[in-house]
Amino acid sequence: MIYPVILSGGVGSRLWPTSRALYPKQLLPLVSERAMLLETALRVVEDAHFSAPIIVSNDEHRFIIAQQMREAGITPFAHILESQGRNTAPAAAAAAAFVQARDPKGILLVLPADHHIADVAAFRRAIAQGEALAEAGKLVTFGVLPSAPETGYGYVKRGQPLPGGEAFAVERFVEKPDRAKAEAYLAEGGYDWNAGIFMFRVDRILDEMRAHCPEIATCAAEAVVKGVLDLDFLRLDPQAFNACPSDSIDYAVMEHTSEAAVVPVDMGWSDIGSWSALWEIGEKDEGGNVLAGDVIAVNTRDSYIRAESGLVATIGVDNLVIVETGDVLLVASRDHVQDVKKVVERIAAAG
Ligand code: GDD
Ligand code: MG
Repeated sequence: MIYPVILSGGVGSRLWPTSRALYPKQLLPLVSERAMLLETALRVVEDAHFSAPIIVSNDEHRFIIAQQMREAGITPFAHILESQGRNTAPAAAAAAAFVQARDPKGILLVLPADHHIADVAAFRRAIAQGEALAEAGKLVTFGVLPSAPETGYGYVKRGQPLPGGEAFAVERFVEKPDRAKAEAYLAEGGYDWNAGIFMFRVDRILDEMRAHCPEIATCAAEAVVKGVLDLDFLRLDPQAFNACPSDSIDYAVMEHTSEAAVVPVDMGWSDIGSWSALWEIGEKDEGGNVLAGDVIAVNTRDSYIRAESGLVATIGVDNLVIVETGDVLLVASRDHVQDVKKVVERIAAAG
């Protein structure tokens, strides 16, 4: 059985002012009319191969997520609550320990909640390939053809082809390389971006964690054992979980294991990390603008404009991101939207 595990811990600060701590990007209908977390869940339902999804989120988002799931008619297999975000390795370890107690060789399909996948059929075919490798004990990642020397992604170097010829042993996994390294990898070729989706047997990931990040394996398992059922939620034991070192699965495991395999997949994948990503995948008008809400754009080019509470009108501007939320107006150059994070930091610093 494959257990989809949806990780919903990020705050999405580069998508401020729409994304906020209490209502982060994955819980918002930014790409379609459904929240990204829900779209993620809907990609893995209605298949006898999959259990209902396991959601791992922060405690404070539990009711928003539960309501969204209910409205979509999805009853999660489990909803695991973290007292504090400790990054993705402890979240995945907790899900693995939870499943292991019920299905010792169950397969986890770890899914970020903030991605857009245009070609769901291609995604499902890749999962089917990954399943065989995961069953054989591999730690499977999914590779996306890189289009730029992005520094926010993991880079996976393809090694020997595996039987069947469509997947490869991972020769090297480098999480978030600096710009010079990312450029060198693109020039060298044979590297994929890590899509952030993983598949492995629960016993195998826990073995690898005991080898490469033993404290995370121990604390997360303890947090599950001492966890408390509260309504439909499993609340991880806060003392045990907060003691987990904070680290991502990429740094803690994938960079070190010799048992990784990569399944390359062309599925129209985008990481919805910033407003420019929404511009890139959005439907453009004749001026190359992506407009959401009540917007009048006159002589406006290549901009992303979002009106959430009123009318936004633009004249004779280009290459902008404008987001209006009623209490906030953001105006940014589309080339500088990564810095939205700095605004959020300033607001936090001002208390
Ligand atoms: N439950 C839980 N708890 N979820 C978390 C936590 C946490 O503490 N931290 C992050 N997440 C969730 C995020 O909400 C997101 O859905 C997913 O886990 C990945 O975390 P990010 O923080 O967004 O990771 P990243 O984007 O820096 O890097 C990862 O994704 C890239 C592709 O988008 C890595 O796997 C990279 O190698 C990969 O290229
Ligand atoms: Mg991300």
